[in-house]
Amino acid sequence: MQQKRIIDLLETKPSPIEISINGWVRAFRSNRFIALNDGSTIKNLQCVVDFENFEESLLKKITIGAAVRIFGTIAESQGQGQKVEIQVSKVKILGEADPEDVKMTIISPKRHSLEKLREEAHLRIRTNTFSAVMRTRSKLAFAVHEYFQKNGFNYMNTPIVTGSDAEGAGEMFRVSALDPKNPPLDENGNIDYKQDFFEKETNLTVSGQLEAETYAMALGKVYTFGPTFRAENSNTSRHLAEFWMIEPEVAFNDLDQNMDLAENFIKYVVNYAIENCKDDLEFLEQRLLQEEKSKPQAERSEMSLRDKLAFIGENNFKRVSYTEAIDILKNSKPNKKKKFKYIIEEWGADLQSEHERFLVEKHFKCPVILFDYPANIKAFYMRLNDDGKTVRAMDVLFPGIGEIVGGSQREERYDVLRQKMADLDIDEKELYWYLDLRKFGTAVHSGFGLGFERLVQFVTGMGNIRDVIPYPRTPGNASF
Ligand code: 4AD
Ligand code: MG
Repeated sequence: MQQKRIIDLLETKPSPIEISINGWVRAFRSNRFIALNDGSTIKNLQCVVDFENFEESLLKKITIGAAVRIFGTIAESQGQGQKVEIQVSKVKILGEADPEDVKMTIISPKRHSLEKLREEAHLRIRTNTFSAVMRTRSKLAFAVHEYFQKNGFNYMNTPIVTGSDAEGAGEMFRVSALDPKNPPLDENGNIDYKQDFFEKETNLTVSGQLEAETYAMALGKVYTFGPTFRAENSNTSRHLAEFWMIEPEVAFNDLDQNMDLAENFIKYVVNYAIENCKDDLEFLEQRLLQEEKSKPQAERSEMSLRDKLAFIGENNFKRVSYTEAIDILKNSKPNKKKKFKYIIEEWGADLQSEHERFLVEKHFKCPVILFDYPANIKAFYMRLNDDGKTVRAMDVLFPGIGEIVGGSQREERYDVLRQKMADLDIDEKELYWYLDLRKFGTAVHSGFGLGFERLVQFVTGMGNIRDVIPYPRTPGNASF
């Protein structure tokens, strides 16, 4: 007998041929209508049971959350909102779900807060919201690979355990196999990492960029797509301690080409979602609309979710230098009225998310690419401009999200890079291999990192980054 998925079945014509479907019961009304979901689509399949022909004891086991196999034929639906339904001939209970137990969980069909759902992250995927988000996440991941593969990039995997701090920010998780209760000490009384597994200090990677650069300088175009880790104590709706980053790196690209790549890439994956996640996005758009009803009018979005996505595809990102941005911010209303938490006083200030969001949401009202930042607020590897005080850095800022991409043209000049490392006290011995790239056929090259969860947030309209990754890791939380 043919086993069907609901997504395919909903597109099939009525037929007398018996088929079977596996799924989980979402509802069972009047001892007659089973709403079945198998995860293939946000839509449930209506399965009609002639209860007169079924054992009472079996009907009792068709409860919300139970796994069942339904046998029957595809019939034209009498109900609204669906073309076909299943005329059930047999029900096999695969896994029961006791209603008394279900009542205690988020599987029970009530409105549960997103906070509550987070506590039951192993069950929240049974809800419409999370299945829609996670299917969309999966499609977006595919779109990322498709974009780069179609454009001649090589997928490379950079190490997760590393001995270097790529961002120089020092917010790393240590990796060690030493006994924490009794670590070996050196003559100065410090922990002796020479006796550790790797015979040196190691940590989880914060970025695969430096290794990606080595491959770009041979393969031309590469990208990574893997987990990265940051031990920054940022308890915000945009930060995770473990997140997935996409990092393309391209030999011979300058910063303008890097901006073009970022903009093209983002447009491609957003359009891919619009085309390939129609039902889920429609559901998420309605969800967002409901959520926004509880907000004051001024905070509600003027555009629907899908309008916001279409806007990305149809409009150019505004490119603005850091210096221009500072002028705009200095003269802005919230700055003059001291509404910003961090008042912009002068050139050189690091931009906070309140400033980024002002530029994107209030001033330009479109995605913005800021470039040419002050050297001293950016990482050591960014190319120094002729003015001697700015670097060829870029950040892509998105409405509702803030920074979604960070990237730069890399310092390709051996002497300039060595000087920069010396100024920042970065050990040349640790990064000799990185300097080698500047000795053997150096060339202009550029790349960027896009936080995958921030992209998923933007596309799904979810307000909290914890709700777009299956099992979020944040300060104080590593459950599951
Ligand atoms: O701006 P970042 O720190 O840039 C780098 O790591 C570069 N090495 C990338 C490169 O040039 N190859 O991080 C890049 C992006 C950010 O723009 C943001 O989207 C995301 O990674 N990101 C985070 N996402 C979730 N949680 C966090 N804690 C994040 N930190 C950065
Ligand atoms: Mg950044």
